[in-house]
Amino acid sequence: MTTSNPVTAARFDATRPVPDRFFPAPTGELDALGEVLGSGRLSGGAEIVAAYEQALAGWFGVRRVIAVNSGSSALHATLVAAGAGPGTEVLLPATAPLPTALPVLTCGATPVIVDVVPDGLALAPDDVAAKITGRTVAAISLPLWGYPVDDRPAKQVLDREGIALIEDACQAHGTRLPGGGYAGTFGTAGCFSTHERKLLATGEGGFVVTDDAELGEKIDFYTHLGHLRGGHGVNYKLAAPLAAIGLRRLAALTSQLQDRASIAGTLRAALPDGGPLSELPIPDGAAPNYYSMVLLAEPGHATRIAAGFAEAGLPPDSIRFGYRPLYEQPLFHPYATTCPNAEALAARTVQLPAHPDLTRDAIGWTAAAITRLGQRP
Ligand SMILES: Cc1ncc(COP(=O)(O)O)c(C=O)c1O
Repeated sequence: MTTSNPVTAARFDATRPVPDRFFPAPTGELDALGEVLGSGRLSGGAEIVAAYEQALAGWFGVRRVIAVNSGSSALHATLVAAGAGPGTEVLLPATAPLPTALPVLTCGATPVIVDVVPDGLALAPDDVAAKITGRTVAAISLPLWGYPVDDRPAKQVLDREGIALIEDACQAHGTRLPGGGYAGTFGTAGCFSTHERKLLATGEGGFVVTDDAELGEKIDFYTHLGHLRGGHGVNYKLAAPLAAIGLRRLAALTSQLQDRASIAGTLRAALPDGGPLSELPIPDGAAPNYYSMVLLAEPGHATRIAAGFAEAGLPPDSIRFGYRPLYEQPLFHPYATTCPNAEALAARTVQLPAHPDLTRDAIGWTAAAITRLGQRP
């Protein structure tokens, strides 16, 4: 696990103690790329792309997968297929980062920002109910940082109105939801990214999973230039070399999930009992994929703890990316609302790397920071 990759299983560097960039161990991608290049079939129409889609469908246990060229494309095409466009509204949580929210604008739909439940990432069902209008066509569920969300209460509200629930599972490959099943398979469709930082990484890329045959067909049609039959579409096809990489790497996803869970266990064990720091609550029966290990600081301790992690070379998203509720982004000021739970969550969470390329020293460094900063002053 900790020496998986000769490129990065190197020395411990105290100036940059915990690299957050994950280099997956080789899974034969070079051979696969050689085969694709040799075949001369590099486009999205190559057999390898269909084979990748089939393998993904098997892994997730769904009827249909459509491979596309990014997670953003997956979200955009799924929203379009669900009917999002000018004059419609899409509900999304205030915890959404820009890549979740931009596709709503790309559709020309109006984003309607909803609060999350206290200390969690699930859509607050009351706020969902309050913000549904006759123009609402979809809501986005977001297992951010790979942490499971219990959106069953929100889905009940949406189902009553016949509104689609679309999961932005771009960070959540292999996340287990409460009630069983993987993130991405709970709603009408699940959208994934395979950007280089994701658990399944092809550089750029993405895919949509769905059991809804009609929706799947619409997404396929839209992302493949309307099948060149005269209907409107875009070219969001995934190129064959990227599908070849994805196909090889998919085979190692399950063991990667186990490695991440084991590192997260080590980090969790470093949390002092009764301190102001705990893991972000996980709904019963669910499991994160540990895209990041996420800790939650008690109110009143969050600023000190975040600064302490930043000083230790482990800056939380609030410091590193200025992560805040969506409506604090200038582009989303016109859709401003007040979401106290999302505001608290953005300020109180600490995201830590838990990828299997971390050296023992890097894990030890992170664990020591957790123990130190998790003491009650
Ligand atoms: C939560 C979330 N949604 C959407 C995206 C968009 O994916 P991509 O970068 O593949 O377009 C990303 C990735 O950056 C993401 O993390």
